[in-house]
Amino acid sequence: MKHIFLIGFMGCGKSTVARTLSTQLGIPQIEMDEQIVKEQGMPITEIFDKYGEAHFRDIETDLLKRICGQKSAVVSCGGGAVLREENIAMMKAAGRIVLLTAKPETILERVKYNNDRPVLNGHMNVEYISELMEKRRACYGAAADVVIATDGKSVEQICQEIVQES
Ligand code: S3P
Repeated sequence: MKHIFLIGFMGCGKSTVARTLSTQLGIPQIEMDEQIVKEQGMPITEIFDKYGEAHFRDIETDLLKRICGQKSAVVSCGGGAVLREENIAMMKAAGRIVLLTAKPETILERVKYNNDRPVLNGHMNVEYISELMEKRRACYGAAADVVIATDGKSVEQICQEIVQES
C-alpha cells in the first residue's frame, strides 16, 4: 500500500480526518504542519515572520520529500502544499491524493478563533477565503485523484468515502 495524502484548503478537516483514517487503516498519521513546528522549534507564524513564506515552502517541500521515502502513512498536508508542481509530482508518485473540500462559510467557522495560520491572519472573512480558494482551485484540481465534499458530513462518513474511492 502507498501513502494517502489529504490535501485541501485550511480548515477543511485534513488533520481530523487523517487521525480517524490512520486508526481505521492501521497505518501511521503524519501531520506536516505539526512536524515542521517540531523540527524547526517554532510556530509557523514565527517561521513566516522571521524567514518569509518562501522559506516555509522550502521547508515544506523538503519534509514532503522525506515523507515520500518513508513507509505508508496517512499524510495530512499543509493547505499550500499543492502550490508547487514538484510537490504534486512527488505526491502522485508516492500514493493517492485525496482533496477535501468545504464551503468558505464552513471554513471560516472552523478557523476564525485560531491565529496559527499566517495566510489568514487579518483576513478572517468569507470574501477573502473565497478569493484565495478560487486562486488555488486549479492547483487543488490538478493534484486530486479523489475529491470529497465534507460539508455536513461526519468524520466517519468522510473516511468511509475515502476508503471506497481510493
Ligand atoms: C497554509 C496552510 C497551513 C500551514 C500554513 C500555510 C496555506 O496548513 O501549512 O499556515 O498556505 O494554506 P493547514 O492547511 O493545515 O492549516
